[in-house]
Amino acid sequence: MKKTLLIFLTTFGVQTMLMSCSTSPEIIAHRGASHFAPENTLAAFKLAWEKNADGIEGDFYLTKDDKIICMHDSTTKRTTGVDLLIRDSTYEQLKKLDAGKWKGEEWKGEHIPSIDEVLSIIPDGKKLYLEVKCGPEIITPLKKRMAKSGAKAEQVTIISFNDKVIAESKKQMPECEALLLIGVKEEEKKMVPSIEQIIDRLKKTNADGLDVNAHPLIDKSFVDTLRSNNFLFCVWTVNNLETAGRFEKLGVDAITTDNPELLKKK
Ligand code: G3P
Ligand code: CA
Repeated sequence: MKKTLLIFLTTFGVQTMLMSCSTSPEIIAHRGASHFAPENTLAAFKLAWEKNADGIEGDFYLTKDDKIICMHDSTTKRTTGVDLLIRDSTYEQLKKLDAGKWKGEEWKGEHIPSIDEVLSIIPDGKKLYLEVKCGPEIITPLKKRMAKSGAKAEQVTIISFNDKVIAESKKQMPECEALLLIGVKEEEKKMVPSIEQIIDRLKKTNADGLDVNAHPLIDKSFVDTLRSNNFLFCVWTVNNLETAGRFEKLGVDAITTDNPELLKKK
C-alpha cells in the first residue's frame, strides 16, 4: 500500500539522495456509497465504483448455516424491519429480506448480499475492506470463499475490532493485509488507549497496521510512532474535506467515507 521511499546511493558514498514519493490516500466507501444508497447492499457497492472509490468497506457475519453475509448490525431489525439474529438464522431466511426500502422506495428489493456476491463485483485494481463483525470462526469459511472467487489476495484487507480475528486472519491468510480497528477517545486530556498500548496490540496480533477513528488528538508524533514500527495508518469515517485534508497531510494510507464522491473531488 503506497508511500514509496526511494533511496539512491552512489558507489563511492559521496552523494546520498533520499526521495520520498507520497501518493494520495485510498478513498474507501464506508458500507458502500452509504450516503446515497442503502448501506452494505450491492447497490451501495456498485454506486461506490461509479463514484470512482478506490475500495469499498463492508461488514460481515457468519450465519447459522456457516454462510457469510454482509450486514452491520448483529440483527436485521434496523435495515430490514424484521428482527432476526444473524447467527441464529439461515442464509435462505436472510436473503428473502428487503434491505433497501428503509433508505427510500427507489431502493426497494435490495437484498442482504452474500460474500460471494460482494467479491464478484470488485473491479480489477479495486479493494474490499472486509470488516469481520463476529469472531475468528469466520476465517476458515472466508478463506474458502476467497479461494473460489476471482479476487486476488491484494484486493482484500481484513479489518476488525477483535484482536483474535486479526491474529487468526494473519495465521490462515498471511497474504491478505489485516488492520486492527481501534476507537480512540480523550480522557483527562490524553488519548486512550495510548499509542504504546496500540503498538503493543498491533504487534501481538501480527496486524499490518491500524485503522482508527479520525480523532483530533491524532498528530504527527502518533503517526511517526506507527511508521517507525512499519505499520499502515488508515482512518474512518471522514465525511468532510477539512478533516480529510488534515489526515492527508499526516500521510494517511486510506480514508473511509460515506461519501466517496466528495473525497474523490479533492
Ligand atoms: O471502517 C471502520 C468502521 O466501519 C468501523 O465502524 O461501526 O461503521 O463498522 P462501523
Ligand atoms: Ca464497518
